[in-house]
Amino acid sequence: MTTKTLSEVHQRHIAALRNQSAVIDAEGLRIGSQYVMFFAEADLMREHAARLTEGFARPNVLEVGLGLGVFATQLSGCDVGSYTAIEPHPGVALMARARVIETFDVPVRVYADPWQLVTLPAGAFDAIMYDTWPPDGHADPDFAEFVARVAMPCLRPGGRFSFFHSGTSIGPARRKVLDRHFAEWTAHPHTMPAEQTPPHWTKPSRDFLIPIATKGGA
Ligand SMILES: C[S@@+](CC[C@H](N)C(=O)[O-])C[C@H]1O[C@@H](n2cnc3c(N)ncnc32)[C@H](O)[C@@H]1O
Repeated sequence: MTTKTLSEVHQRHIAALRNQSAVIDAEGLRIGSQYVMFFAEADLMREHAARLTEGFARPNVLEVGLGLGVFATQLSGCDVGSYTAIEPHPGVALMARARVIETFDVPVRVYADPWQLVTLPAGAFDAIMYDTWPPDGHADPDFAEFVARVAMPCLRPGGRFSFFHSGTSIGPARRKVLDRHFAEWTAHPHTMPAEQTPPHWTKPSRDFLIPIATKGGA
């Protein structure tokens, strides 16, 4: 068995993340001084959940970056067979467990390590949602590594992959990864209405894409 390790930069990033306090207020989840997820993203996450699971019977879903549990909450309308999450911040995982995870009436598992250190079963998931907070400058390389090392081996043939994407176009690095690994992919636009924007909105845009990539071999 290969031992999984974290690079030094990722070790420092996860240590710093775990050292910060996690607080949920009326707007969303703050880690340290920064909002990382807002309740106002519920419609966006509902569409991710619906597009990831539509047409599948009782899908097994993996989410990477449990955060505020907004995506997980939206799965309640999707008749899932099981839910697995990865969340390395213990306070974030604890709050989501109490608020969201314990409401599931299907098998649930939460891993408390960064995804880089988690070993997941091969071909076990029908749908994977990736929404993490990588170190600065590592978003695209981490994405490429996640797709190659986790999404492809752990999705069953015909399974779907999606990820949080702010803005109206997917950059060349991610397009290359999607083209290389998946049989097909699409990206659906979604705009948060101005009146829903929370007072402390931190994200670069109210425009999002909902990418859906499908693994071949079904
Ligand atoms: C934007 S939030 C996720 C929001 C979540 N999808 C929701 O619907 O509420 C990003 C989360 O990724 C977590 N995270 C950061 N690095 C991670 C890693 N290496 N593996 C898994 N999760 C990670 C953070 O602790 C944070 O809770």
